[in-house]
Amino acid sequence: MKVLVTGGCGYIGSHTCVQLLNAGHEVVIVDNLFNSKPSVLKRIAALTPEPPRFYKGDIRDRELLDAVFRAEKIDSVIHFAGLKAVGESVRIPLTYYDNNVYGTIQLLHAMREAGVHRLVFSSSATVYGELAPVPYKEEYPVSRASSPYGQTKIAIEYILKDLAAAEPDWSIILLRYFNPVGAHPSGTMGEDPQGIPNNLMPYIAQVAVGRLPEMLIYGNDYPTKDGTGVRDFIHVMDLADGHVLALEWGAGNSGCRAFNLGAGKGYSVMDLLHSFSKALGRELPYRFVGRRAGDLAAFWADASLAREVLGFETRRGIDEMTADVWRWQSVNPNGYPDE
Ligand code: NAD
Ligand code: WQD
Repeated sequence: MKVLVTGGCGYIGSHTCVQLLNAGHEVVIVDNLFNSKPSVLKRIAALTPEPPRFYKGDIRDRELLDAVFRAEKIDSVIHFAGLKAVGESVRIPLTYYDNNVYGTIQLLHAMREAGVHRLVFSSSATVYGELAPVPYKEEYPVSRASSPYGQTKIAIEYILKDLAAAEPDWSIILLRYFNPVGAHPSGTMGEDPQGIPNNLMPYIAQVAVGRLPEMLIYGNDYPTKDGTGVRDFIHVMDLADGHVLALEWGAGNSGCRAFNLGAGKGYSVMDLLHSFSKALGRELPYRFVGRRAGDLAAFWADASLAREVLGFETRRGIDEMTADVWRWQSVNPNGYPDE
């Protein structure tokens, strides 16, 4: 299939492009490079039989999208493009709604105009809200999320469900990611956040490489086995494989369906830190500080629906996640080069 990947230069998108190309699909990326660097394209090309095609631009630019759909015979779209920093979304909610919700609406208009009706969308476990019992199941109603970022994912899920209900030729898959971590095993691709990382794994990696002095652990008084938060960490390569499966399943099914992509089990912040220390061969400096506002104690996926319907299973455990991140960060201490 020829797949348009919005946000294909970003963390999850770039790894997914590698797996798509290696599965024999053609890839066309649209990315405005707001949170990524063009040098990732060479890294993707080095790991795949065919390089992806690339259009630099914004998904809110209807003319650009129409031109891409005219120039390329697209079969399906995987839609990663969007802003994702939870804390920032509280400060500038309108920017988040504009980029994520309006951007998705523009993409949907362009797809419909081009007669392309197959979409895989990057949703998030955050749509389950703050009160859902664990493990999270797809059948739960989506709830109010704890941030404007999360609200954009909920809004887009509703838009996509309404669209599929109104126009039955659409095939739309909502993939609700849990906590993506890890890097390509080659050490040439990984997560490259701009500025100080918001998320746990890139923060640990930057402490390991000496860019940050110590780990701050947000809370050791949660009702969990060691008092630190528990999350369902999923290796980005497993997540990428999940997109290939979803894309192929979506080609034979219509309607709108949500799937959790998680490992189906939780590990604590301390588990991840200890695993990283093993990969590194030394202990990392850390300090317990107060809880971070908006954090939940523990959540993980019920992963059975994706297994039964898509045939999705995670194959890479936390020691592989941390070893792959350390390989990427140690070879590329400052992330991707600018060009
Ligand atoms: P990322 O920031 O690394 O990648 C997103 C890419 O989209 C970047 O390359 C960015 O330049 C591009 N982009 C942003 N706005 C754009 C626009 N308007 N037009 C064109 N390109 C644009 O993020 P990621 O971690 O790879 O996440 C990908 C998707 O998955 C996002 O939608 C995110 O909300 C979702 N998601 C991520 C996580 C996570 O923890 N990383 C968890 C759940 C869901
Ligand atoms: C994990 C655990 C922190 C950093 C976020 C988004 C979510 C989804 C994935 C997009 C928590 C602790 C963290 C640090 C720490 N993204 N922590 N020190 O918050 O589960 O999920 O990313 O959809 O919507 O909210 O991930 O990696 O930020 O935190 O102790 O420096 O690590 O308190 O318990 P989170 P995270």
